[in-house]
Amino acid sequence: MIYLDNAATSWPKPEAVYEAVDGFLRQYGANPGRAGHKMSLQAGRVILETRELLASLFNIPDSSRLVFTANVTESTNLAIKGMLDPGDHVVLTGMEHNAVCRPIWALERLGVEHTVVGCSPEGYLEPSELAAAIRPNTRLVCVNHASNVVGTIQPIEKIGKLVSGRGAAFMVDCAQTAGVLPIDVQRFRIDLLAFTGHKGLMGPPGTGGLYIREGIEIRPLKEGGTGTNSELLTQPAAMPERYESGTLNTSGIAGLGAGVRFVMREGLDRIREHEQRLTARLLEGLRAIKGVKLYGPTDERQRVAVVLFNLEGHEANQVSFILDQVYDIATRSGLHCAPLAHRTIGTIDIGGVRVSPGYFTTMEQIEEFLAAVAVIAAE
Ligand code: ALA
Repeated sequence: MIYLDNAATSWPKPEAVYEAVDGFLRQYGANPGRAGHKMSLQAGRVILETRELLASLFNIPDSSRLVFTANVTESTNLAIKGMLDPGDHVVLTGMEHNAVCRPIWALERLGVEHTVVGCSPEGYLEPSELAAAIRPNTRLVCVNHASNVVGTIQPIEKIGKLVSGRGAAFMVDCAQTAGVLPIDVQRFRIDLLAFTGHKGLMGPPGTGGLYIREGIEIRPLKEGGTGTNSELLTQPAAMPERYESGTLNTSGIAGLGAGVRFVMREGLDRIREHEQRLTARLLEGLRAIKGVKLYGPTDERQRVAVVLFNLEGHEANQVSFILDQVYDIATRSGLHCAPLAHRTIGTIDIGGVRVSPGYFTTMEQIEEFLAAVAVIAAE
């Protein structure tokens, strides 16, 4: 089978990730930070190691400011619901995923206002328009680093410069870029970085996190046992426990650590270069097929490895279904949990077929995919 749905989750994982999850569960699967026995301490060490690896990847000065969550959606919910109060205002872009939109829309009925800054049909954001939308009561600005629908990359460093010092926290959703593009929270002036572990970072599903810059105050989404300050009936203030109540996804985090190690060893440049080559060929090959309509940036350097297309005379779901059933090729069709982005690019009524190669995809697989689309188009 040919797996071209890496924007949903990367697959396969590096061998070391499978081994880390299995090894953790078999050899030292105790509860970290909950006891003083050797197994618990070893489990705690794995959590700390993963936290430090991620801090180093994102240039986070203090790893305790990085808290683990179940996924990027939990991270965006923690930031959005934990920061905003009635009367506050939040700015987001026309390319956001529902992980950002839904919590913001849910706060609307509590009196939290929002402004959506439009993007071009290719998904580009004009940073000055975003800056102009900031008001005195704006507490948060949310920007998707790269679209999960068309892959468009936003100029995060430039945006960070414009947002910084305006009184609002700058949150970046890097679901599609962590492990593929360089992210430096200090250089990019990111206050909140919401990431997932199971895409470019190659970890298992159920892993993710949020970096919270020192000085940013967020209400925890959940309170409970942390293994620390057990005499208290209230949530401790210390990081990262303040936001990590309940037993962590320890085996997942052990796997994520192995994924991040793999990414760092291979190098972001090499990963990006491979994915960019595949994307360039995908764009070129699809463009040559009669009846294909492509969306998003035409230049592969301005997008991550996410390509959206439609085929004249065919519904997106039908194309994706045929690719799977007849050719054993996995893609994702529909609206990709991002109706705002589909509205921006003009596909809200029809959706599209999304093709997302990963680091383990080969050029031969891309050629097989293109040949299959050519046959479907000619039918
Ligand atoms: N957000 C993921 C996707 O784009 C699941 O498919």
